[in-house]
Amino acid sequence: MKSKKVEQALNEQIKVEYESSQFYLAMASWAETEGLNGTANFLYGQSEEERQHMLKLIRFVNERGGQAVIPALPEPPKSFESLQSIFQHLLDHEMKVTDSINEVVGTCLSEKDYTTHNFMQWYVSEQIEEESMARNLLDQLNLIGNDKGGLYLFDRDLNSGNVSTE
Ligand code: FEO
Repeated sequence: MKSKKVEQALNEQIKVEYESSQFYLAMASWAETEGLNGTANFLYGQSEEERQHMLKLIRFVNERGGQAVIPALPEPPKSFESLQSIFQHLLDHEMKVTDSINEVVGTCLSEKDYTTHNFMQWYVSEQIEEESMARNLLDQLNLIGNDKGGLYLFDRDLNSGNVSTE
């Protein structure tokens, strides 16, 4: 790529998306072992989406004449406290991803790389959606609190797509 700084920033973003995918996969696996099958299915889907975000970046870097680097990652957590804690992690994590995407966009502007800037706009919009979805699910869980019946219905509805994520 013409700007090594942009290439480096994109490689850092590849790592962030990969980390998101593995983090959500760990959450999904834990939820499945807890019998929270709706939550598990939802998180397996989120993990797959993050993997697609990573792939899209890898292919862009390589197609633009750079070299995408596949990083090693630390092991994600094995267990989580509760459904609430999972969705709090999800929201906190997505907010960090947004910061990191904004950093990439900033680097594109300072390096006058308008092609990559344009490419990154897809990620900017995606983050707005993902943050709002995570906030929405967390709000619903905070309303449910520790009510077992409410948590059961939340998990069931997440599986059938009946929980509002917008
Ligand atoms: Fe691809 Fe949710 O960040």
